[in-house]
Amino acid sequence: MSQIKLLNIVGARPQIIKASAISRAIRLHFSTDITEIIVHTGQHYDKELSGVFFDELEIHKPHYNLGVGSAGHGRQTSMMITGIEEVLLKEKPDGVLLYGDTNSTLAGALAASKLHFPVIHIEAGLRSFNKSMPEELNRIMSDHSSTLLFAPTNSAFKNLMSEGFRPENSPPYTIDNPKIYLTGDIMYDNTLFFAGLAEKKKSKLLEHLSLERDNFILVTIHRDTNTDDVSRLNEILITLKTLAEQKEIILVMPLHPRTIISLKTKLESLYEELCKSEYIKIIPPVSFLEMILLEKNCRMIITDSGGVQKESHFYKKPCIVLRKETEWIELVNNGTAKLVDADPDRIKYEFMNFMESHKSLEYPGFYGDGKTAEFILKEILLMFEKK
Ligand code: UD1
Ligand code: UDP
Repeated sequence: MSQIKLLNIVGARPQIIKASAISRAIRLHFSTDITEIIVHTGQHYDKELSGVFFDELEIHKPHYNLGVGSAGHGRQTSMMITGIEEVLLKEKPDGVLLYGDTNSTLAGALAASKLHFPVIHIEAGLRSFNKSMPEELNRIMSDHSSTLLFAPTNSAFKNLMSEGFRPENSPPYTIDNPKIYLTGDIMYDNTLFFAGLAEKKKSKLLEHLSLERDNFILVTIHRDTNTDDVSRLNEILITLKTLAEQKEIILVMPLHPRTIISLKTKLESLYEELCKSEYIKIIPPVSFLEMILLEKNCRMIITDSGGVQKESHFYKKPCIVLRKETEWIELVNNGTAKLVDADPDRIKYEFMNFMESHKSLEYPGFYGDGKTAEFILKEILLMFEKK
């Protein structure tokens, strides 16, 4: 079989990290079979949300950067579609790889499927069953524009079946006859690969922040429901500050720029109070290897991030999820992640509980064998052989 060409579309921080698992597997195992063209939509553009990952995770510099930047959903997505369409017409790839559920994912799915390029969705089938989340709409529409769908968990695979996808479909696969697979999670591949490197790199982050192993809590907040609803953000942060002071434990918060913007513009006095507290350390977003160090060494994680929820499991840390629901439901069923919404009483209860019980929890392997990227690429190559 001749080489196939895949367009690898990224845009937001977690997609760049996920794409590194696929890029690495291509480089290590399939460099004679697959040519990879990286398209960055430019959805994230700050060095600490984008460039740092290309440098640190050794991903090829994007072949195309569409530079769309920040804008409302419609404008941002339409600029991405226009840019991706041009690249598709020029490169004529055999398939288009998409990750997760951002506007960059949706734009890739729409641009490629309308031009009849097979869409390959990695992290397919995840559902929050809450269509007021932009990500839920992006997931559903991307899955239903796809030809190959790689579901990372049993529940994601079942979600696809309940939406009419049939595991028994046989080749040739098309958008009307798609193939669904149950895989593991490529982020688990990344964890196994990068956890050791993070230690070896000897970042001084923990020393700089005066953090002691097992004696601080990692907090990330970026979800629009939390950042744009000022009363939610206010309640969450006041509750966390009170708990940190009461238990005399440091909260480290690498905050996404959208959270900082909300704090600085709408909650100015709270922001000042947080900055003054000896138990709160608000810092800019950190690199992936630094994030791993924080995750590995903290006592507990509090987050509204999808990726960070899972990493809490990889590093065996209890996780309080600042959301009403989650797509990674196995974590909640396991009792090691707790959904608290933005409810101060639930946050307090789970916080106190995990402060005591964190050493007795168990973290079974839900996310594959660490070779998911390799499996995915093998299946993609098989599909093109059988075409
Ligand atoms: C996006 C994804 C979200 C994902 C998150 C990962 C969508 C709809 N949302 O959310 O699913 O969890 O990425 O981090 O695709 N900004 C900067 N610098 C940047 C990028 C953004 O300051 O480099 C600020 C801008 O004020 C911008 C805001 O962050 O308006 C939101 O950025 P955007 O890319 O629209 O959404 P995220 O919240 O990052
Ligand atoms: N992450 C990072 N630095 C940070 C915050 C997060 O490297 O300061 C990584 C984190 O380890 C995870 C991914 O970014 O792999 C999650 O991205 P994010 O929380 O932005 O989005 P989500 O997963 O919710 O879509």
